[in-house]
Amino acid sequence: AFVPPKPLIVKDLEPEFDDGKKKVTIFFGTQTGTAEGFAKALADEAKARYEKATFKVVDLDDYAADDDEYEEKLKKESFALFFLATYGDGEPTDNAARFYKWFTEGKERGEWLQNLQFGVFGLGNRQYEHFNKVAKEVDEILAEQGGKRLVPVGLGDDDQCIEDDFTAWRELVWPELDQLLRDEDDTTVSTPYTAAILEYRVVIHESVDAPVLSKSLSSANGHAIIDAQHPCRANVAVRRELHTPESDRSCIHLEFDIAGTGITYETGDHVGVFCENLPEVVEEAIVLLGLSPDTYFSVHTDKEDGTPLGGGSLPPPFPSCTLRTALARYADLLSSPKKSALLALAAHASNPNEAERLRFLASPAGKDEYTQWMVSAQRSLLEVLAEFPSARPPLGVFFAAVAPRLQPRFYSISSSPRMAPTRIHVTCALVYEVTPTGRIHKGVCSTWMKEALPLEQSDHCSWAPIFTRQSNFKLPGDAKLPIIMIGPGTGLAPFRGFLQERLALKEAGEELGPAVLFFGCRNRKMDYIYEDELNNFVQAGAISELVVAFSREGPTKQYVQHKMLEKAADIWNMISQGGYLYVCGDAKGMARDVHRTLHTIVQEQGSLDSSKTESMVKNLQMNGRYLRDVW
Ligand code: 2AM
Repeated sequence: AFVPPKPLIVKDLEPEFDDGKKKVTIFFGTQTGTAEGFAKALADEAKARYEKATFKVVDLDDYAADDDEYEEKLKKESFALFFLATYGDGEPTDNAARFYKWFTEGKERGEWLQNLQFGVFGLGNRQYEHFNKVAKEVDEILAEQGGKRLVPVGLGDDDQCIEDDFTAWRELVWPELDQLLRDEDDTTVSTPYTAAILEYRVVIHESVDAPVLSKSLSSANGHAIIDAQHPCRANVAVRRELHTPESDRSCIHLEFDIAGTGITYETGDHVGVFCENLPEVVEEAIVLLGLSPDTYFSVHTDKEDGTPLGGGSLPPPFPSCTLRTALARYADLLSSPKKSALLALAAHASNPNEAERLRFLASPAGKDEYTQWMVSAQRSLLEVLAEFPSARPPLGVFFAAVAPRLQPRFYSISSSPRMAPTRIHVTCALVYEVTPTGRIHKGVCSTWMKEALPLEQSDHCSWAPIFTRQSNFKLPGDAKLPIIMIGPGTGLAPFRGFLQERLALKEAGEELGPAVLFFGCRNRKMDYIYEDELNNFVQAGAISELVVAFSREGPTKQYVQHKMLEKAADIWNMISQGGYLYVCGDAKGMARDVHRTLHTIVQEQGSLDSSKTESMVKNLQMNGRYLRDVW
């Protein structure tokens, strides 16, 4: 076979100019921007503290083009800090995935990092089973491979106040850096540092000179890659309710039309959806801010003369638009404001009492109050604005420091491209709840989906910028291997895709192995979603056994894991024959309980002791035969 020669890449043409300063690299693996924000905040403060060092904040994906380059460059680092978030089933963020895979699996072990002094801060949530797995592993391996750990790994917990965890960890970092980065004769005492409040430069445009909207969201968006930074507009083709009228909840089946967009996907992938805040939420924000919704403006991260603002810490700007559009598309108005946002509000509160209270809430002394009044009460940014009527920051501060960017929502795709090549199906439960303050919280994206107008009904149908994200939640390469699928509620979504794919394979003449689906819902008459389709899959041979647990029909709760125990022998047989096990749905309750049940089944059926059981389940996971798509 012809092996193309390796391209000759001339690296480092630009001389690394050595000014004698010590260099610290601050890496981040970020999904929603929090890890990146922490990395930049730490860099800003460090720059102010250590004049004789340079600090570089680096996206892990941008750092190196391939594994070799990671190795080559990391070898040369002397001081590095890592901010690493853990997602889903103990997974790294997209931008850290390549590094993480290489570092934890691909890299041969050995003490090759003896040059390096490092610190790792993790971002995770204690409610999840693999709390901060990514940070813990990277921290351990860095040390194993010869690196010197400056501070214990920081375990940020988003279930509580992750900003506080970061602040506490940062306080451990400074004494270490003091020793490393200051000259011996440097006796200056650092002056207390207060982070500057981030602010965009704002230009208000008369409608005549308004720049043309630059962000291309047309079909086929002109980019080679369609991702979170370059989403593509997709129309809503179909929308229907999956619950019956007897149900007091709602679950939506939605289909995006991707014909001609360039968007592709595989069975088991995720779709990211950028949706807008509801008009009523936007109107409330406009009233609270007291600004004209038609103000057409742009935000900039540099001064008029081109010098950067905010030390490079500003979030990327969004395209010029009216205030109404900016509030709809770019501002997260319903999450609880972070402490840094409260400080930004305080700086612009004309009433000193309000400013004082805001500062208190953001201070170490106000920790408990913040937890109760803000976090437990699920107070939204809009509620906070209403409570502090004098705190009205200018637009540049509001969008840079007060309202975080509205994030895309991810859904497990519930179709297979073999069955629906020009459609992406989504199965989405409506988020609708009353918060402790009595506010009715309507989930941004699920409500949008519930109210979406499909092309079936109108030419002026709803659309959203979307993109797909690969997952490793995939059917076995060999369709003859047995599979066990466990997916109660909307956890059914990817399995609907799996079953469509199996049906397509079968129709193409492939031989299928056995497939058991465990589905769970409250009541057959209310929320048994896709019931007819599932029965059809059984009849057509895509499922060999459908097992359903109804949790609210009888006197006692019946959950999928109870049904699994009833089928313990079958499950064990399927696993023993090289079968695959898939779990999708809620991570905190269901997936954890199913995980325990799996241990019980393996232990009892295999007559194993607990450590053998443990290692068998671990092996299944390591070999990609026990896969979870959980949230
Ligand atoms: P419940 O709401 O009656 O408790 C889909 O949401 C189904 O998952 C519902 O029937 C729900 O039951 C059930 N469920 C809730 N918690 C669960 C858990 N820890 N394990 C398995 N199923 C669970």
